[in-house]
Amino acid sequence: MSPSGSRATATRRAAELRDQIQRANRAYYLEDNPSISDAEYDRLFRELQQLERDQPQLRTADSPTQRVGAAPASALTKHRHLQPMLSLANAFDTDELRAWHERNLRLIPEAAASAFVTELKIDGAAVNLTYSNGRLTTGATRGNGIIGEDVTPNLRTIHDVPLVLPADDVPALMEIRGEVYFPLTTFARVNRLREAQGDPPFANPRNSAAGSLRQLDSAVTGKRRLRLFAFHIEVLEGQRPVSSQWDALELLSAWGFQVEGHRERLATLDDVIEHIPTLEALLPTLPFQADGVVVKLDRLDLWPELGAIGGREPRWAVARKFAPEVAVTRLRNIKINVGRTGALNPYAELEPVELGGVTISNATLHNEQLIAEKDIRIGDWVEVVQNGRASCRERV
Ligand code: IVH
Repeated sequence: MSPSGSRATATRRAAELRDQIQRANRAYYLEDNPSISDAEYDRLFRELQQLERDQPQLRTADSPTQRVGAAPASALTKHRHLQPMLSLANAFDTDELRAWHERNLRLIPEAAASAFVTELKIDGAAVNLTYSNGRLTTGATRGNGIIGEDVTPNLRTIHDVPLVLPADDVPALMEIRGEVYFPLTTFARVNRLREAQGDPPFANPRNSAAGSLRQLDSAVTGKRRLRLFAFHIEVLEGQRPVSSQWDALELLSAWGFQVEGHRERLATLDDVIEHIPTLEALLPTLPFQADGVVVKLDRLDLWPELGAIGGREPRWAVARKFAPEVAVTRLRNIKINVGRTGALNPYAELEPVELGGVTISNATLHNEQLIAEKDIRIGDWVEVVQNGRASCRERV
């Protein structure tokens, strides 16, 4: 075969392998339904790696080989977000929700003409993904909202994170905001593994998602099978591609991001208020942890006008949070678990108590200082909150 003929064959073969591996990845990581054996997968993956080593021009930015292979870092480097990552003000009841909207109406009466979008508030680790001309260039944690940590190789291992956006209508420079989270089944598996190895279990899915994201070795992150929901587009260069939050969510989904499915566009705040109990009832049944509902004004043109309180909390959105479920029981004993690293993890043995549909007999006491501060003693009545994992927080 002529050199150009063999090159064309190699190009075709590489595309075929990428396609097969991407399909296998989706089935394995996202659908939990492996389509080929591990041995077959390894064979395809190694063949693609070999082709790309021999002919580096075959290595595309979205090749599955680009999700693995970065050398472990010795420390995480800082990343300055192009736009600050905001947090959210809370509304703990309907009155606070109405007050939020009324204040906005006083500032901008036009806000009356906007619909609302409700989204679940995913309880994970906030991340910021920078795309330059449609390619993922940096992925960072939130940090203090201005400066986070660069965890790009780790985020590349998450199969929900598109490495390249397929569309050619993407803004030249943008940040996609989302939440990295652990499905509850994965969280339980990771904790079983940690305990088997003598490591202290993670306190809750949120901490474990954050911890897994901040690994120096991306191979460790890759094994944890984290997921990502995207919910925000921040355009820095180029045309804003949509004019409503609803369309932004649709666009994110079209670009290949996972967008949480329980979103609604509702015409009035009364519709929102009416819908919220349905979402509250849904929260404990979800396969991941969500700790509230985010209510956003749909019209994006109003967002810059409304601005943010203290540069931190945008006025165009509010988090409708719910009181956590609490149970009261007797503290039978305080025990200490010694992690492999030597860390001491005190935990409570409790008189079994029902909480969030399960019986709790152990709860973390976090650390010695907290026990001293709260003056928690054996025989005390304690409040237990369920936050993915039971946590014993206060003396009653
Ligand atoms: S919007 C610029 N929507 O909650 C984006 N945040 O307490 C402002 N979060 O840091 C936030 N689900 O990481 C938004 N559907 C959602 C969310 C959500 C989870 C997190 C986010 C934010 C934190 C604020």
